[in-house]
Amino acid sequence: MRPFLIAPSILSADFARLGDDVNAVLDAGADVIHFDVMDNHYVPNLTMGPMVCQALRDYGIKADIDVHLMVKPVDRIIPDFAKAGASIITFHPEASEHLDRSLQLIKESGCKAGLVFNPSTPLHYLDHVMDKLDVILLMSVNPGFGGQSFIPSTLDKLRLVRARIDASGFDIRLEIDGGVKVDNIAEIAAAGADMFVAGSAIFGKPDYKAVIDQMRAELAK
Ligand code: DX5
Ligand code: ZN
Repeated sequence: MRPFLIAPSILSADFARLGDDVNAVLDAGADVIHFDVMDNHYVPNLTMGPMVCQALRDYGIKADIDVHLMVKPVDRIIPDFAKAGASIITFHPEASEHLDRSLQLIKESGCKAGLVFNPSTPLHYLDHVMDKLDVILLMSVNPGFGGQSFIPSTLDKLRLVRARIDASGFDIRLEIDGGVKVDNIAEIAAAGADMFVAGSAIFGKPDYKAVIDQMRAELAK
């Protein structure tokens, strides 16, 4: 398995001083910035669009930006995010009419592509697209809000997806999003995840480096 990646979700950052908060979490050792896009349609909350992603690039943020689209429809917004500096774009399969087309659109835009599975979304969406995936993201909460509790049944789903990735031979990251904390990250890694989104666990604490160091210590166990 590849090195673990820690991806703080800026959903829990200070939006009034976002650029500085993103720099702070990168200085604290974060690998990737997780960027939650909510449309008050596919999910019951409204966050940020491509302009904010572009603003972070303009501010000098060089790290990979992992754009998690919780929007419907998805295709229209994909090229806009690619132009705004997204590195990875993931979307929920049930929010796209044409899964394969949306994945191709992301790749053609020059970004890495991924599918996101809600806790109850079946895995059959993976059936014919494994060769087009760079990331599979499993939601361990229902999407829409930070600060929810990790749904334990996600661990079994992680094990299933890990087995599927390994059997496929493709180079696909297994990302987990929702309720990831210092005290459950080791168990989540043991179930097969190699990329960890954490919002409230990191931005909710005054010392980002202390939390990220603790997460890495847990992952090294
Ligand atoms: C939820 C978002 C998550 C959220 C995670 O819909 O996709 O990325 O920010 O927040 P925590 O880590 O607080 O559960
Ligand atoms: Zn997310």
